[in-house]
Amino acid sequence: MEKRPLGKTGLFVTPLGLGLAALGRPGYINLGHAEDLGANYDVEYMQRHAHEVLDAAWEAGIRYFDAARSYGRAEAFLGSWLTSRNIAPEEVTIGSKWGYTYTAGWQVKAEKHEVKDHSLSVLQRQYQESQELLKPYLSLYQIHSATLDSGVLENREVLEELARYREQGLVIGLSLSGPAQGQTLEKAMEVRMDGVPLFGCVQVTWNLLEPSTGPVLEQASREGWGIIVKEALANGRLTEKNTDPEFAPRLAVLKNTASELNTTVDALALAAVLAQPWASVVLSGAATREQLLSNCQALRIPWSAETASLIDALAETPQEYWSKRSALEWN
Ligand SMILES: NC(=O)c1ccc[n+]([C@@H]2O[C@H](COP(=O)([O-])OP(=O)(O)OC[C@H]3O[C@@H](n4cnc5c(N)ncnc54)[C@H](OP(=O)(O)O)[C@@H]3O)[C@@H](O)[C@H]2O)c1
Repeated sequence: MEKRPLGKTGLFVTPLGLGLAALGRPGYINLGHAEDLGANYDVEYMQRHAHEVLDAAWEAGIRYFDAARSYGRAEAFLGSWLTSRNIAPEEVTIGSKWGYTYTAGWQVKAEKHEVKDHSLSVLQRQYQESQELLKPYLSLYQIHSATLDSGVLENREVLEELARYREQGLVIGLSLSGPAQGQTLEKAMEVRMDGVPLFGCVQVTWNLLEPSTGPVLEQASREGWGIIVKEALANGRLTEKNTDPEFAPRLAVLKNTASELNTTVDALALAAVLAQPWASVVLSGAATREQLLSNCQALRIPWSAETASLIDALAETPQEYWSKRSALEWN
């Protein structure tokens, strides 16, 4: 897989990356998560399973890996994999996030799976924790799901602390969530510390059902931002596992197009993101080796005006999309 720059951050990525949200903990919101893990939540087993998927990603040429403090043991699994495979820090780009604390206690069902808190004390604690698990690999640290109402983009002490990490050599980014992703990014683009933009890249949801941020991502990319795309499969809704009767006509369109191209629905949905000129890297959220290999077929799909028309045919309004996203059940 080709290596390419992550905007002007000085970091490199590959067109496909691997995110560990589905690999680091027993519960997640993706449609068939319980089935993917075979309901085996033994920590040793889950670490071996995560390492197998990471090995497959490495073999496929993936060199960007994404974690977060709140993905259970994802940072620990990633750190132990990097060291056990003797991967040199310069061979790979590792990003993580702070701002949510994992509270599910290694259970699939929990009253609260994660607690959001974008305060200075959480930043300082989680930064130490991430460094302990990922040093010397960690090169990108992101605010996890920054929103306008969380106030984090106006919190001077947090922004100053992040600027200190930037001075120590980390690239600072933010991830977005919810129908106001675009407005949040516009605000983040204005944040400067000592006259220099604080953020170098953004992690954003863009997919065939929720393409509304396209124009602002194009602008950010022109300004040198790196763009990491997450939830390219709408948490599994853009796969054949989606049995929602209301989605059936749109799934039929996807299946027909995938079959004409001799590929899978998941690869087709990922190819739609790869075709966006502003996208630096698209995350696979594969929970198994098989899913990862299927996702990698996206790299071979030619994108045409006909496939591009899928975006108009399938998109939901952001409000519709995000209300379905928040109704997804942990499993
Ligand atoms: N706010 C944030 O910062 C944020 C939020 C979300 C995600 N992320 C990052 O983005 C990464 C990807 O996001 P995501 O996993 O939430 O969503 P996603 O990429 O839209 O969905 C991935 C899921 O799709 C399903 N899938 C993939 N390939 C498949 C195949 N061949 N056949 C059937 N199903 C298949 C699997 O779910 P099932 O098998 O369970 O159905 C897989 O876990 C995460 O790992 C994380 O690093 C960041």
